[in-house]
Amino acid sequence: MAVMQGQWFARYPVLLALLAQLAAVVLLGVLIYAAAQLSSWRPSGLVAGLLQGLLAASFGRWLGLSRWWWWLNLGFVPAVLLVSGAALPSWVFLLGFFLVLLLNWNSVGERVPLYLTGARSRRELAALLARRQPVFRFIDLGCGPAGTLLWLARQFPQAQFVGVETAPLSFAIAWLRSLPRQNCQVRYENLWRSDLSSFDVAYSFLSPAPMAAVWAKVCAELPTGAWLISNSFEVPGVAADEVVELKDWRHSRLLLWRVPG
Ligand SMILES: C[S@@+](CC[C@H](N)C(=O)[O-])C[C@H]1O[C@@H](n2cnc3c(N)ncnc32)[C@H](O)[C@@H]1O
Repeated sequence: MAVMQGQWFARYPVLLALLAQLAAVVLLGVLIYAAAQLSSWRPSGLVAGLLQGLLAASFGRWLGLSRWWWWLNLGFVPAVLLVSGAALPSWVFLLGFFLVLLLNWNSVGERVPLYLTGARSRRELAALLARRQPVFRFIDLGCGPAGTLLWLARQFPQAQFVGVETAPLSFAIAWLRSLPRQNCQVRYENLWRSDLSSFDVAYSFLSPAPMAAVWAKVCAELPTGAWLISNSFEVPGVAADEVVELKDWRHSRLLLWRVPG
């Protein structure tokens, strides 16, 4: 499993899911062929699809994918079979494409796709923040649909939380979700244009690509002693002051730097 759980696969769980799907197709093909030699049993397309889904979901778990991938792997091929038989209008596919695009707006330009901070990372992040005075200002640089931001805002009611996001659909979801929370604000704002000077903690879960520029920005703008916490991605050439290993399937880590004076 070491290869499967290496950094590269860990960053792209969709590749593990694809591997699970392909392995399930191959194994099911062999099983159906063997059954056809030994008996008169021939599964219908949908039954074969369901069996493939079960195998893919099980492979996915075995390869270390998290629980919600189980359902995706289970339903993927059966859904494709159902949809292909349902003669859906082409605008449905176009709509699906645009929804994915509006969520992953920053995949191309910024090389940062949408993936979410996991539950364990959230808890460890909260444990780090609990060390601070109860009143602090926190910014999530690229907050996605703001699940983590809102969860933290509930844990630390005296602190102020700001999320910035430029993927249109993620922003709309985050903004709507943040409306009822007094200590949480979501802005349609490019993180490179955000003024960080009033924040005590900046959190980023981006990709390796922008980390050098993120470090330059926090050093220029965050007050001395403020924290940059990066989920999983290192700043090239700058050792973190603290590292919290999360011991999950992604080998995630929280890296914390104190901004130098
Ligand atoms: C990996 S997701 C992390 C989402 C959230 N912070 C979390 O931890 O669950 C990164 C997010 O950063 C956003 N993003 C990337 N570049 C950005 C930029 N220049 N300005 C604002 N948001 C950006 C992406 O659209 C994406 O939603």
